[in-house]
Amino acid sequence: MAATLYERLGGYDAIAAVVDSLMVRLGDDRRLAKYFAGHGDDSKKRLRQLQVDMICQATGGPCIYLGRDMLVVHKGLGIDGIDWQTAITHLIGVLDSFNVSDELQKEVLRLLNSIKSDVVEKP
Ligand code: HEM
Repeated sequence: MAATLYERLGGYDAIAAVVDSLMVRLGDDRRLAKYFAGHGDDSKKRLRQLQVDMICQATGGPCIYLGRDMLVVHKGLGIDGIDWQTAITHLIGVLDSFNVSDELQKEVLRLLNSIKSDVVEKP
């Protein structure tokens, strides 16, 4: 049987490390920081864990995502197409820093693009 995307990315710890690194970059980006302002440390930890769970599940790993629906949770934040592209550029930077191959990166981006219309309110 072909290895899942989860396995090919390196499993749980690799996915968690990517999410951790991405959250630091998003929080440090002046354009995006406003979205995470007002979240205390525990809320940020919760968000991080939900992102790990979701990506783990979506890539075929043994996790169960118990968070809210993507459309419901992002509605009202006013995320636009430039925010989306900024976040994706940070993600690519993180994946590059972990030496994830272009082929695998394409698969990850295809997966995330499938939820873009739920996250972005102002294209
Ligand atoms: C790559 C696509 C994205 C994924 C997979 C994703 C995933 C998630 C998840 C799993 C949650 C937590 C759900 C819950 O609390 O039940 C969440 C919440 C949130 N996301 Fe995203 N997200 C994405 C893109 C973005 C972008 C581009 C931004 C803004 C720059 C953003 C900002 C937020 C904020 C501020 C929350 C917290 C909302 C709240 O607690 O009210 N997300 N996201």
